[in-house]
Amino acid sequence: MKIVILGSGNVATHLAKSLYEKGDEIVQVFSPNLENAKLLADKIGSRFTNHLNQVNHDADLYIIAVKDDAIEAVAKGLTNVNGLVVHTSGTTDLKILSTLIKHSGVFYPLQTFSKDKDIVFDEIPICIEAASEIQVNILTKLAKKISNQVYHLDGEKRKVLHLAAVFAGNFSNHLYTLANQILKENNLDFNIIRPLIAETADKVKKNLPENVQTGPALRDDESTINKHLSMLTDLPELQKIYQTLSNSIKITHK
Ligand SMILES: NC(=O)c1ccc[n+]([C@@H]2O[C@H](COP(=O)([O-])OP(=O)(O)OC[C@H]3O[C@@H](n4cnc5c(N)ncnc54)[C@H](OP(=O)(O)O)[C@@H]3O)[C@@H](O)[C@H]2O)c1
Repeated sequence: MKIVILGSGNVATHLAKSLYEKGDEIVQVFSPNLENAKLLADKIGSRFTNHLNQVNHDADLYIIAVKDDAIEAVAKGLTNVNGLVVHTSGTTDLKILSTLIKHSGVFYPLQTFSKDKDIVFDEIPICIEAASEIQVNILTKLAKKISNQVYHLDGEKRKVLHLAAVFAGNFSNHLYTLANQILKENNLDFNIIRPLIAETADKVKKNLPENVQTGPALRDDESTINKHLSMLTDLPELQKIYQTLSNSIKITHK
């Protein structure tokens, strides 16, 4: 398949590399920042541009992996292409493409991607959506080349998945950042709590999270909770988060 990748960030980089490694031809990378476009293009032996009007019109597939707010603007530059145009966003409607483009779809990989961290695609769920069965089949076939977990999901279900993913991945990672802030302010190293983070994630591989919850809020240890809250007097934002999450744990486990 001849593929054009639009974007050169986290998702564009991993998708382009995986598809390239499985034998697809990435004919071009488009990205507004020419250096970023070149950086990715060099990894996969493709041409590159930072002008939408120079995007190749003969590809079979166009993967738009730019920030959500720019998807529509990029799609407007692809209204004349014959190939299938997809975006990779969890929460963006397919309609944003289908109202502009003849053949469109969604190719949403449910994982947290960072450009510079290697990733194995095999186990990453890929959620497919498209208007016609033919397009669903094309995207499913492509997704199965790089992943063993391919789902045909409508937009509403995909949005729910993305919302859950923000809680599970995004917010958890932010909480690690806050934990590190507390540690750093007290000259303690983040390495000390890495095993705790690893074990918390490991436990939910086989258990439901609600069955392995621990901590002062679950135990109703009010004196410990109050000590923690007083330690956060100078960090009112963190105090608020601590209170909100403790209340949520109590309500969930009532
Ligand atoms: N990161 C994840 O874990 C993840 C997971 C699943 C799905 N997604 C989805 O994948 C898509 C890309 O996310 P990402 O995390 O890969 O983003 P990212 O790493 O932040 O990269 C954003 C890309 O958007 C381009 N861009 C920024 N402003 C633009 C504009 N005005 N017009 C055209 N392009 C613009 C950037 O180009 P330059 O670098 O050239 O400025 C860059 O290539 C999003 O739809 C996101 O929802 C992300």
